[in-house]
Amino acid sequence: MSMNLVTLLYLVASVCFIQALKGLSHPTTSIRGNIFGMTGMAIAVLTTVALIHGQARSLNLDFTTGIAWVLAAVVVGGGLGAFMANKVEMTKMPELVAFMHSMIGLAAVFIGVAAVAEPWAFGITAAPVAALVGAQTPDGAVLLDGFVRYAIPAGNRLELFLGAAIGAITFSGSVIAFGKLSGKYKFRLFQGAPVQFSGQHMLNLVLGLLTVALGLVFVFTESWPAFFAMLALAFVMGVLIIIPIGGADMPVVVSMLNSYSGWAAAGIGFSLNNAMLIVAGSLVGSSGAILSYIMCKAMNRSFFNVILGGFGGEAATTGGAAKEQRPVKTGSADDAAFVLGNAETVVIVPGYGLAVARAQHAVKELAAKLTEKGITVKYAIHPVAGRMPGHMNVLLAEAEVPYDQVFEMEDINGEFGQADVAIILGANDVVNPAAHTKGSPIYGMPILEAYKAKTVIVNKRSMAAGYAGLDNELFYMDKTMMVFGDAKKVVEDMGKAIE
Ligand code: TAP
Repeated sequence: MSMNLVTLLYLVASVCFIQALKGLSHPTTSIRGNIFGMTGMAIAVLTTVALIHGQARSLNLDFTTGIAWVLAAVVVGGGLGAFMANKVEMTKMPELVAFMHSMIGLAAVFIGVAAVAEPWAFGITAAPVAALVGAQTPDGAVLLDGFVRYAIPAGNRLELFLGAAIGAITFSGSVIAFGKLSGKYKFRLFQGAPVQFSGQHMLNLVLGLLTVALGLVFVFTESWPAFFAMLALAFVMGVLIIIPIGGADMPVVVSMLNSYSGWAAAGIGFSLNNAMLIVAGSLVGSSGAILSYIMCKAMNRSFFNVILGGFGGEAATTGGAAKEQRPVKTGSADDAAFVLGNAETVVIVPGYGLAVARAQHAVKELAAKLTEKGITVKYAIHPVAGRMPGHMNVLLAEAEVPYDQVFEMEDINGEFGQADVAIILGANDVVNPAAHTKGSPIYGMPILEAYKAKTVIVNKRSMAAGYAGLDNELFYMDKTMMVFGDAKKVVEDMGKAIE
């Protein structure tokens, strides 16, 4: 395959990836975005295999077995990925993403190690030439295996160091994030609660500096032991960076690791002189960084506040125990249905509890019944409602909620004042008016202003706090009715009562 054709195909794949990101930014175009992504990746993989095959032939090497291995890996890996993605529940999606990032990180490490061991096979140096065993190389070293090896250029060594180090941090960090998100494992480091000890940040700083120092030793001397010691430290650092962060903050971490995995791929792409890896890695790296920024902004927290950890630990360790016992107005699903049935406009606020209860289909049914009665129904989506970006949009799309009923926070906040009823389903922090109170841990976090509606109905199972571990003044307001119970059951009961 000619280099011009390879470049052209890589360009087509790059355009597909950009279209994929564009398509994934909205539920209506997300399927198209996914198709673009899959097409781009298929073109990229097949072109690279054809490219390597051509290069091997020009060196008179037999690459048939190599291709068989690559294609077998594509079938096994692709099949496993499709199986897992098909099986995964929406609330478990961040776990799957964390697992996939760990694989990208590990791939970057493997490629880095292989490229350092056999740089000629990756086109980084010329192939070694046979010489007498025991002869001296041009730089004075004695040949033991009978081959003159060429030094990896310093620039490539730097790229390999960066790519492999970031890959190692991404791998071990993602494994910890996966464990924390799944909450299934007894191992202490996999618990949702932050693992903190004194001097932790200093230790991380020292390890970080040591990793860089060893990396530089490799860059300047091409020392293998320095490269492996650097990798070992990077693996340890990945663990240490993630353990102090609470389980509920993991989606921000996963998005950050996503960004790291992209930069690792881009770094390796520079070493291998592969434009496709550089483009794809940069797209992943920058989109992950932007997403982390958006999430932090929507929680009104700095990136460093998340990374330094500890937040959400209280809620995670105590199960979000209630802070105080004050009287609240309670009602049944029938009472709530009565209020809803008499409204003209209803705004539904879905939260994490709705996702856990898998109540999206029941909500859609309820909304359809209200709409049939001539009631205007709108959904209000907070950017960090739930535990992952776009969580609520995806859930509602899965239940085939009409897109024109779904509104982002900035578009709906002005409408709560005119709404007859705001019904909050398994949401807490994203509607907590404490965000307007100076000194509150969530002060400044933009919220859905559901408290402005004429009547507020809140469904949750108890008075327990949400992810931020805070009490919510909204629950105690005169116009608020608390309907306790699992979101799915309560919403189904409301639907039946409306009928
Ligand atoms: P939360 O504040 O966590 O509140 C969810 C509420 O749902 C809980 O108070 C819980 O109360 C209730 N609940 C749980 N299971 C339920 C069930 N089966 N049926 C009914 N209710 C149930 O969630 P939110 O308001 O969606 O806010 C999200 C939080 O996560 C924010 O603080 C945000 O910063 C954080 N966060 C989000 C993201 C992204 S990207 N989405 C990333 C990191 C952090 P009970 O236990 O009493 O039922």
